[in-house]
Amino acid sequence: MQSESFKIIRGDAYQIVRRLPAGKFRAIITSPPYYRHRHYGNNDHEIGREQTAEAYLDSLTVVFEACRNILTEDGSLWIVIGDTRRQHEKLRIPHRLAERLVQAGYVFREDIVWYKKNNVSSSSHDNFSQAYEYVLFFSKNRRSYANLDAVRVQGNEAAEGRNKVPPRHMVQYAPQNPDRNEIARIANIIHSASSSTPLAKLPTTSDIARAYGYDPDKFCPTCYRKFKRHATRRRIGDHKHYPIFAVCNPRGKNPSNVWEIATKAHYGNEHFAIFPEELVEVIVRFATEKDDNVLDPFAGRGTTGIVATSLGRKFVGIDLYNDNVEKASRNIAKTDNSANLIMGLAPNNQH
Ligand SMILES: C[S@@+](CC[C@H](N)C(=O)[O-])C[C@H]1O[C@@H](n2cnc3c(N)ncnc32)[C@H](O)[C@@H]1O
Repeated sequence: MQSESFKIIRGDAYQIVRRLPAGKFRAIITSPPYYRHRHYGNNDHEIGREQTAEAYLDSLTVVFEACRNILTEDGSLWIVIGDTRRQHEKLRIPHRLAERLVQAGYVFREDIVWYKKNNVSSSSHDNFSQAYEYVLFFSKNRRSYANLDAVRVQGNEAAEGRNKVPPRHMVQYAPQNPDRNEIARIANIIHSASSSTPLAKLPTTSDIARAYGYDPDKFCPTCYRKFKRHATRRRIGDHKHYPIFAVCNPRGKNPSNVWEIATKAHYGNEHFAIFPEELVEVIVRFATEKDDNVLDPFAGRGTTGIVATSLGRKFVGIDLYNDNVEKASRNIAKTDNSANLIMGLAPNNQH
């Protein structure tokens, strides 16, 4: 099924991926069937039913190997995947898959932990409850397209309880009237400082903040610390205590590699392993820009397509079963393109 902004192809991911044009997709975002978790239908090509973990990893590896060719040179691959436990032992599926994909030429960039804050406690007597899955991030080459500004987090330190949220009028968003001469004088002191320079001769962080146009008693919009406390103590030469004024990025902090996102309720009453739109949204915003092509070779009910098309990207999905192709198409088609998706990590961006 297809429209201008999306197309869902029924078939085996491995066969279809090999027929897609080389270098077309900026990002491939998917959650493959987990090893021996559930059956989606009766097709022999269904991944996840293999007799051994090795055979399962082989099936996934050939699909993702083929995917590398259809990524743009700056493209990235994102795999949401959980582990399987057999007779008390964790099979280390994500780790073993990562190892194989590195052998296949990918650069392993990050193993993000998706912490499911609404996880259900297990009834096991000797293992901890599984509260996270991995989001494995690979790039085709060492450098890949990345838009961190689209996913920065605001005021995080207040949320973490380290700093209080300051009154609005005490937050300063941008420098005002930086004093170039004073900055040059300070830079000069920095460059000529040595271990014998007395502390009293060094400018304070308030002096430095003021020179750069920040009121030392106002608060940084990113970390909510006062600018006069906004310093790292960096070693300059052999001087131990030189204060360096370091302004946070006013667009926010880099998100961490632990993403706290609740699992999604299933569509209707069906039990189907869908991943949350918020999670996909962070990836789409970070890894692609408008009009880019996004692929999900295990499209399921079409979550990647819903998010990608809502954000103005073009989407191709693949699934083995007709039922999924139809439902994914319907889910994507009914998503209003102006849908106001809720960002998992950063609420303020429109990239
Ligand atoms: C975990 S689900 C994906 C769910 C999806 N992320 C969503 O949000 O709805 C995995 C999907 O892979 C499909 N699948 C299994 N083996 C496949 C294969 N060889 N080729 C294509 N799709 C396959 C299944 O039908 C299932 O829909």
